[in-house]
Amino acid sequence: MGIQISPSILSADFANLAQQCQIVAGHADWLHVDVMDNHFVPNLTLGLPVVEALLKSVSTPVDCHLMIEDPDRWAPGYAEAGAGSVTFHVEAATAPIKLARDIRAHGARAGLGIRPATPVEPYADLLAEFDMLLIMTVEPGFGGQKFLDVVVPKIRRARQLIGDADVWLQVDGGVDAQTIEICAEAGANVFVAGSAVYDGEDPAAAVDALRASAQRAQSAARL
Ligand code: DX5
Ligand code: ZN
Repeated sequence: MGIQISPSILSADFANLAQQCQIVAGHADWLHVDVMDNHFVPNLTLGLPVVEALLKSVSTPVDCHLMIEDPDRWAPGYAEAGAGSVTFHVEAATAPIKLARDIRAHGARAGLGIRPATPVEPYADLLAEFDMLLIMTVEPGFGGQKFLDVVVPKIRRARQLIGDADVWLQVDGGVDAQTIEICAEAGANVFVAGSAVYDGEDPAAAVDALRASAQRAQSAARL
C-alpha cells in the first residue's frame, strides 16, 4: 500500500502560496488545500478562485479538502477546475453518492471525509463510490491542533472495512513524525501534515522524514 504525503498549505505563507507549493515539489505526492466556509467549520480560508490560480502555477496534484456546507453545490466545480482529488464531508452532504459520481465524472478522485466523532460503519456500503476515505484526527477548522488518539481504533476498523478495495485511507490533523507512525500502523496510507511540514526550516526535508517514518511503521506492521 503506497505511502503518500499531502502537505497542507493551511500552515504555509498565504502571501507566497505558489512559492510555498514549489518548495515541496518533487517531495510531496499532493498539495492539500483546505477550503473552509466559516459555516461547516469556524474558520474561513480560500475558495475556488484561489484553487484555480494555484492549479495554473503548480505541478503537484491538488487534493482539495472541502470543509463547507452544501458541498453538493460547490464540490463539482473544484473537480471541473482540475483538482486531482476532491473530498467533501458526509456530515454536510445531502446526496453523497450522486456527488461522488459527479466529482468522478469531472475526472477527479472522490473523497469522503468524516469528523472525529462520526462513526465509519454506516458508510461501509458507500466506500465503493469513493477513491479515498478521510478520517479527521482533529476537529476540522484549524491547523496545529493536537492529534486525537481516540480516533485510532476507527482508522483500524476503516482499514478492515476497506479490505481489498482500492480506496485510499487518509488521515488529517496533528500528523507529525510520531503520530504518523501510529496512523500508518493502524492502516492509513495518505497523510496530511500542515504544521509538521511548514512550521519548520525545511519543508521538503520534513516531507521526506514523514514518508520515512510512515514507511518504517507500515513495514513493521506488515501491511
Ligand atoms: C484542519 C485541516 C488540516 C490542517 C492540518 O481542519 O483540515 O488539513 O491543515 O494541520 P496540522 O497538520 O497542523 O494539524
Ligand atoms: Zn485538511
